[in-house]
Amino acid sequence: MARPDRGEADRRIQNLTEKLLGTFEELDFLHSMAAFLARPSGVGDLDGYLVRETVSIFRADGGWLARRGEGSELRSAAVHGIRAEVAEFLNERFLVPLIRAEGLPLLVDDLESALQHRGVERPGAEFEGGELPRAFLACPLAANTEVLGVIVLGKNSRGDAFTAGDQKLLTTLAVQAALFIKNATLLRRLEAEARSLGKRVELLESDTTARPDLSRIQSESPTMRRLADQVESAAASGATVLLLGESGTGKSLVARILHRRSARRGGPFVEVNCGAIPAGLIESELFGHARGAFTGAGRERAGLFEEAHGGTILLDEVADLPPELQVKLLSVIEQHRVRRVGENRDRNVDVRIVAATNADLAAAVRAGRFREDLFYRLNVITLSIPPLRHRREDILPLARRFLSELARETNRRVTGFSPAAEEALLEHPWPGNVRELRNVVERSLLLKGAGALVELGDLPPLQALSSSAKRLELSKEPLANAVRGYERGLIVAALERSGGIVARAAHLG
Ligand SMILES: Nc1ncnc2c1ncn2[C@@H]1O[C@H](COP(=O)(O)OP(=O)(O)OP(=O)(O)O)[C@@H](O)[C@H]1O
Ligand SMILES: [Mg+2]
Repeated sequence: MARPDRGEADRRIQNLTEKLLGTFEELDFLHSMAAFLARPSGVGDLDGYLVRETVSIFRADGGWLARRGEGSELRSAAVHGIRAEVAEFLNERFLVPLIRAEGLPLLVDDLESALQHRGVERPGAEFEGGELPRAFLACPLAANTEVLGVIVLGKNSRGDAFTAGDQKLLTTLAVQAALFIKNATLLRRLEAEARSLGKRVELLESDTTARPDLSRIQSESPTMRRLADQVESAAASGATVLLLGESGTGKSLVARILHRRSARRGGPFVEVNCGAIPAGLIESELFGHARGAFTGAGRERAGLFEEAHGGTILLDEVADLPPELQVKLLSVIEQHRVRRVGENRDRNVDVRIVAATNADLAAAVRAGRFREDLFYRLNVITLSIPPLRHRREDILPLARRFLSELARETNRRVTGFSPAAEEALLEHPWPGNVRELRNVVERSLLLKGAGALVELGDLPPLQALSSSAKRLELSKEPLANAVRGYERGLIVAALERSGGIVARAAHLG
């Protein structure tokens, strides 16, 4: 075997060295690209980085990266070493149709003749000779089957072409880049969403309805002022609290305030309406259940007591709790332990219990419907919220507050109530309490015509309700009183018609 001469060997070694150096450079690029992309803050100039680096590695004279827009148009996101107009021209006239025809990647030694071949008109006068690159390599930025854009490289001098190896490498890089671009886009969208959600949370947090404070129940009426003081000291004590009051008086509101003013404010607040859950479900709802504990219990589940761990649980309509659950509730209060349905071990829970009811619990105890021991356990601190009709001085301030809140929410310029509307609000007995008042204000705002004041005619028909409520009150009076009242009404009406002359009134009968 003839030994290759020294010159030949040197050439081979030089070739190999160049190849190796090239490979090192590519590997180095892949590595630095990965590092670059791993930095979320660097993603901002991803396009520029990719173009600059690939132009340098592939020893190109210029290149660009274009992203696909909403339609199928291409918009250059970064251009390097080439005039932007050239990139735009080739994007629009050459690359968009190529993507559509799935003709990428594309490697050509002579771009001019490739354009000619595809019937692309020669660029106009604005392109000086030699502006178009000569050799041309374009790869799609494809993530799965979606083409997000293209990455393009050009070389200007005659005889300086891209190789099939270049095409392979650029395609590999483009796949990586496309995935990163897709992720970066997703990340940016998620960040934007998180920011806007953050803003909404802030808004909600600053909204006193969602995070009510003591000021919410401080009012003109002495009973409510006293209640606010009681709430304040009850909150600090951490003891079990029983809230009494008619429906809609603000028991849930007070329970929230208790939670927010207590040391547990950082923990959860869980509200459960014991009267609204079917008897068969309430135990697993409150205490949780093991997997397969009953039909339909496909997965194990923590109950509401466990969910409220570290915080406060409001047991609304506590009088409706079935007897066997009253026993279980007692053991939560006394031992701070719960047992999931279908399990035979207890779990510790640290929960403050606030119970609420509009029923007469003491009467329920006497009637044997409510356990006496539980009643005493719940009845450590009792707060009674008076019905709205017993604190009439609160009606207008509350109505005005609701009006201004609701007007702000719905962008309406309504500033108050007309004197006649105010009078009607004061007259009404509010059997549904503050909740009813809020609904009435909300409905009158919806029904309202033009003008800055809510007029009497804008209010929903309160009178019907109020007169039936009056009839109700009347019916509780002794019959003789009612008859006397009726007679008096007839006489007064007759006097009015007669102009006040008693003799004539007697004739009118
Ligand atoms: N003092 C108040 N200031 C502002 N809003 C109040 C006040 N009291 C009650 N509300 C509002 O009235 C509505 C009813 O209050 P809440 O739900 O607390 O009543 P509740 O006594 O828990 O009623 P239920 O017995 O039906 O559970 C809520 O929209 C609440 O925000
Ligand atoms: Mg409630």
